[in-house]
Amino acid sequence: MKFFVDTAEIKDIRDLHETGLLDGVTTNPSLIAKSGRDFKEVIKEICDIVPGPVSAEVAATDYEGMVAEGRLLAKIADNVVVKVPLTIDGLKATKTFSKEGIKINVTLCFSPNQALLAAKVGATYISPFIGRLDDINLEGMQLIRDIRQIYDNYDFSTEILAASIRSANHVTEAALAGADVATIPPAVIYKLADHPLTKSGLEQFVKDWKATGQSIL
Ligand code: G3P
Repeated sequence: MKFFVDTAEIKDIRDLHETGLLDGVTTNPSLIAKSGRDFKEVIKEICDIVPGPVSAEVAATDYEGMVAEGRLLAKIADNVVVKVPLTIDGLKATKTFSKEGIKINVTLCFSPNQALLAAKVGATYISPFIGRLDDINLEGMQLIRDIRQIYDNYDFSTEILAASIRSANHVTEAALAGADVATIPPAVIYKLADHPLTKSGLEQFVKDWKATGQSIL
């Protein structure tokens, strides 16, 4: 499973890149607003740090506007993935981009039918939002399982990018459900390494090692 980080904070991206765990980055207009930075500058900076796919979302909601903005975003760096919303105009733009060789992340997916449409028009990634479905008392993870089944039934190459991930359990469940990618907030990525038995076991090893009086170097 590939790990993308869902943030526009440069420091977080740099730190995670250094761990070797990061395969890519996703941003959205809310994350850009939170960063307080200029959108195109931030995307360029992220692309210079991370060689993997970096999703940059269009602001327009009409086909012509999305295509114009997406073409411009795609020129920022070779690893830019243009992110468009799952609307009819977004799907039309996806078809246009896929013919032009521009990679596309279709976002705000909340149903298997929406995912089917995105695959049919050549989306590179589909982004089902797990947490937001859980928020309204639906089972977000079931959507990942359904999309996996549909894409496998028809050999679609669109990658399932599990988004709106809020917890370490979401990551485990998305991996078990066969998501190709998870886009995860920075704090949740670090939590994946935590286990109380690892912590207490290491404390004991450090204590016992000190008692030997030895040094490896
Ligand atoms: O980037 C899209 C998605 O991951 C947003 O997550 O937590 O705002 O629902 P959230």
